[in-house]
Amino acid sequence: MLNEKQKLEQIINLGLEVAQVKDVDLLLERILTEARTLVNADAGSIYIKENSKLMFSYTQNETMRQKLPPGHKLIYSTFSIPINDKSISGYTAHTGKTLNIENVYTLPEGVPYSFDKHYDEVSRYRTQSMLTFPLKTHRGDIIGVLQLINAQDKNKDVIPFNKEDEPLIMHFANNAAIAVERAQMTRAIILRMIRMAELRDPKETGAHVNRVAAYSVEIYEAWALKKGIPQVEIDKNKDILRMAAMLHDVGKVAISDIILKKPAKLDVDEIEIMKQHTYLGARLFTDKYSDFDEAASQVALNHHERWDGNGYPGYVNPMTGEPLSGYTNSKGMAIGKKGEEIPSFGRIVAIADVYDALSSRRVYKEPWDESKVLETLHGDAGRHFDSEMIDVFLSSLDIIRNITKRYPEK
Ligand code: C2E
Ligand code: SIN
Ligand code: SIN
Ligand code: SIN
Ligand code: FE
Ligand code: FE
Repeated sequence: MLNEKQKLEQIINLGLEVAQVKDVDLLLERILTEARTLVNADAGSIYIKENSKLMFSYTQNETMRQKLPPGHKLIYSTFSIPINDKSISGYTAHTGKTLNIENVYTLPEGVPYSFDKHYDEVSRYRTQSMLTFPLKTHRGDIIGVLQLINAQDKNKDVIPFNKEDEPLIMHFANNAAIAVERAQMTRAIILRMIRMAELRDPKETGAHVNRVAAYSVEIYEAWALKKGIPQVEIDKNKDILRMAAMLHDVGKVAISDIILKKPAKLDVDEIEIMKQHTYLGARLFTDKYSDFDEAASQVALNHHERWDGNGYPGYVNPMTGEPLSGYTNSKGMAIGKKGEEIPSFGRIVAIADVYDALSSRRVYKEPWDESKVLETLHGDAGRHFDSEMIDVFLSSLDIIRNITKRYPEK
């Protein structure tokens, strides 16, 4: 249990962290962890407002987590709740009021909301005390709800949430709301860039881009944990990689429609032109103002390199597309990067991109069955792909499939 000074320190630290983390999903994870620690809550969820509904966006549950094998994450399905007085989170989002409920199974008489026991039945969890508060921006807009579940005492017995903790949590919820809003704005700008690319290539929708990004983050986290990379560094890189992966094909904006939308196999010359999308994309990020620009440039440039050295574009200068001096083969062509010469983000996005391309419909191909996709990836480990990363990918398949469901083709 934390004393008051520790609680204050934690709020201040969170403020600093929130200012640094730019990605919404990662922020949700951080906010929930910090808020739960602050009041010793066993579980919690965040709902973010989307199209006048509350989307169940993130959840943590310590009791349920401890029942999982080590390293596994809780898998949850997304669902939405109408913003009205009938549910607890709906009520908070609708009215902006904090609800501190001792026991959701014995709600006071006359309240408009009720607790839906269905969630407990499905998850085999017993919800009891619940603290629900709005995520409000400085303009007073409610952008979501944070819900903490089952405060615990030293003996892990469930107790009501302490009324005195409410202002602390409220203060930090307001900061978090502003940061979420800012992160949503940064993401919106990147999404506009991606949408511009899609105007060129409408068959490949934003869903492809979102899936490739989420798969990449998943592969990265599992791989980096295995490598012993510290969690703080992993968290920072996840944020950056997600946005960089979304832009892996942004160079396709420069490729002619005749090639990009050809409903058939490309010929040899067309393939050569198509290959330019790698360094043309990297060119957009040559002024490396941030870690994000660096990562976006690496991903665009390297996502079609192959582990065996037979990928493209190889060692080229992105500004010219010409081979770097000393890196040409007997025909004067750039030699491919191979193995760990390929930056890790490039190796990761290669797997995510090919998995998604094979699983999806393209103008030039039908979707493949999952078994054939997996066989191909497995067979190409050590040839096209980093074997270690393929192992990690194949052991995270349950999470991968869940991501596929989260971002369906429109
Ligand atoms: P993409 O559609 O996002 O595909 C990404 C990568 O997935 C491909 O890189 C390739 O490694 C893999 N992939 C996709 N479809 C297949 C397939 O049917 N069989 C196999 N074995 N692998 C597949 P790649 O080949 O370098 O292509 C890069 C981009 O070039 C593709 O991105 C796509 O936009 C375009 N492209 C490739 N082939 C064709 C084609 O035959 N017709 C058209 N119109 N575009 C193509
Ligand atoms: C994850 O939960 O880390 C992957 C899915 C996502 O955030 O889009
Ligand atoms: C992009 O990232 O460039 C949009 C999707 C695509 O063209 O593959
Ligand atoms: C490709 O590289 O074109 C597809 C995957 C493979 O067979 O290596
Ligand atoms: Fe590509
Ligand atoms: Fe792609």
